[in-house]
Amino acid sequence: MGDQSVAASGGVLTRRRFFEGLAAFGGVSLAMAGMDALGFGFSSAMAAPPTLEGDAKGTKVVVLGAGLAGMTAAYELTKAGYQVQIIEARSFAGGRCQSARKGFQHTDLNGNAQTCDFDEGLYINHGPWRIPYHHRSTLHYTKLFGVLLESFVNDNDAAYVYFEKGEGPLKGKPVRKGQIAADARGHAAEMIAKAASKGQLDAPMTAEDRDLFVAYMINEGRLSATDPSYTGADGRGFDVKPGAGVDPGPGKESTPYSLADILHSKAWQVLTSVAGYEQQRTMLQPIGGMDQIAKGFEKRVGSLIRYSCVVDKIKQNAKGVTVTYTDKFGEQDTISADYCICTIPLSVLKNIDADFSKPFKAAMSGVAYAPVNKIGLQMKTRFWEDNHFIYGGHIYNDMPGIGTITLPSTGWQSQKGVLLGYYAFGGEAVKVSMKNPADRAAFAVAAGQKVFPEYAENFETAFSFSWHLAQFNLGGWAEWSEDGRKESYPVLCEPDGRIYLSGEHLTYLGGWQAGAIESAWQQIGKLHARVRAA
Ligand code: ALA
Repeated sequence: MGDQSVAASGGVLTRRRFFEGLAAFGGVSLAMAGMDALGFGFSSAMAAPPTLEGDAKGTKVVVLGAGLAGMTAAYELTKAGYQVQIIEARSFAGGRCQSARKGFQHTDLNGNAQTCDFDEGLYINHGPWRIPYHHRSTLHYTKLFGVLLESFVNDNDAAYVYFEKGEGPLKGKPVRKGQIAADARGHAAEMIAKAASKGQLDAPMTAEDRDLFVAYMINEGRLSATDPSYTGADGRGFDVKPGAGVDPGPGKESTPYSLADILHSKAWQVLTSVAGYEQQRTMLQPIGGMDQIAKGFEKRVGSLIRYSCVVDKIKQNAKGVTVTYTDKFGEQDTISADYCICTIPLSVLKNIDADFSKPFKAAMSGVAYAPVNKIGLQMKTRFWEDNHFIYGGHIYNDMPGIGTITLPSTGWQSQKGVLLGYYAFGGEAVKVSMKNPADRAAFAVAAGQKVFPEYAENFETAFSFSWHLAQFNLGGWAEWSEDGRKESYPVLCEPDGRIYLSGEHLTYLGGWQAGAIESAWQQIGKLHARVRAA
C-alpha cells in the first residue's frame, strides 16, 4: 500500500504510478504491455501488429505460403502500401488452420485418399483447435475480422480418465477426473495436515503460520477441522443424488477411492493437465470451425494469392528474389520481388532448391518436425452428454497411439456430434498413420469402446489426418532441441539476404497460431525498418 503514490514513496516512480502514466500516455494497451514486461500480466508477447509508418517506396514482397504467418504478413504489408503476392501450394488458404467438413478432401503421402462425409454442419479441427485466452495476437484478428468465438472446454471434472497400464481396482476402469482430483487432494491434505498439527513438518514455521497452514490443508482437502481425516467430498458426486422431498432428500455422498488405489492406477498424472502456461482451463474456439480464422484472412488477402502453385526454386541476388513455381496445369512460372517472406515449414523448405547461405542451410537441416495424428469420429448420438453428463473436455488415457480422446465443445445437446478419436504424437502416431483410413477408424473406435459402451454402435464415419504425411507440412510443428535453440534458431530468425523466414517454427510459441502471427509481425517489422533505412 505504501508505494501507491509518488509522495508516499519519497518521489520514486512507483509501479502503480508507472502503469497509470503509461495508461494516460498510450492508452490501456500500453499499460497492459507494461504490466507484462514487469511480470504482472499473463499474455502473449505481442498484442498488436507493429505500426509500419512511412512510405513503403513501392517495395514488392513475395510471400511463400498462405497460412496464418503468410496471410498476416500480406495483410499488414498491404495496408502499409507494399505490393504483395502470395504463392500457395494448396488450392485453399489457411496452411494448418483447416477444418474438415462434408466434401473436404485429403490424400496423404501414402496415397490414402479421403473425402470427409460428416453430416452438414459437423466438422473436425484436425489442425489447430484451441486458443488460450492469453494469445492476444490470435484474438486480435478474430476480433478484427468478426470471427465469433465460443468456449473450448479444456478441463472437465466429469470427463473420464482411463488408465489400463496401472495396477489395482482402478486399472482399466473409466473414472471421473474430478473424483481422482478430490481424492488425491483429500488424502494428501490429510497427511500433511496431521503431520503439521503434530509439529512433524521440517518447514520452519511460527505457531501462527502452522495453524494457518493446517487450516489451508483442511480447506484444500475438504476435511473436517475436528478430525482431518479425508472421508470424501460432495464435489466428487453422490451414490444417491440429492433431490426432492424426504426421499431421496439429501442423498448419500459417494465413497472415495483409497490413496493406494489412486497411486497404483497412475491416474494422478492427469491432475496437472491444465497447470501449464499453454494449457489453460479457459480456452476458445471459433464458432463453426477453426478455418473461420483462415477465411477471415482470405477474405482480405485472397486476391493476392496464386493457389495450387508449388515452389521449386528460390534464388536471390543483391537486387531481389526470384521464385520459380509449378502451377496446377504443370506449367512453370517465376515471380520476382524485392524481398521474400518465406513461411514454408523447414521440413519442406530444406528440400527446395534455394541459394541460402551455408550457415542458414545448416541451421535449417537440424530441425525436427513432430509426427501428429488426429481423427474425427461422427457419432449418431451424443451419448457422452446424454448418458454420461460429459460436456466437452478430454478423456485422458494411457492407450498407445490414442493420446487424448476429446469431446466436442460445440453443438451441445444436438442430435449428432464429431468427437476427436485420437490426438497423438511421436512414434505411436507414426505407427497408426501407416494404417489405411478404415483401419485407423477401427483402431480409434476400439479404443473408445473401452471407455464408453455406446461408442462402436454409434460410430458412423471418420476423417483422419496425419501431419507428417501431409505433403506441404511433413510434420505438425517444429521441435527444437536445446542445442538447436542456441545455435540454429537465432540464425534463422534473421534474414538471409533478402529472404525472411516466418512461422510458428521461429517462435517460442511452437505449434500455436499465435506463433505464426507473432513471427510474421516480428519479421515485417524488421523488413519495414530496412526498407525505410534504404
Ligand atoms: N497447440 C497444440 C494444441 O493445442 C499443440 O494441442
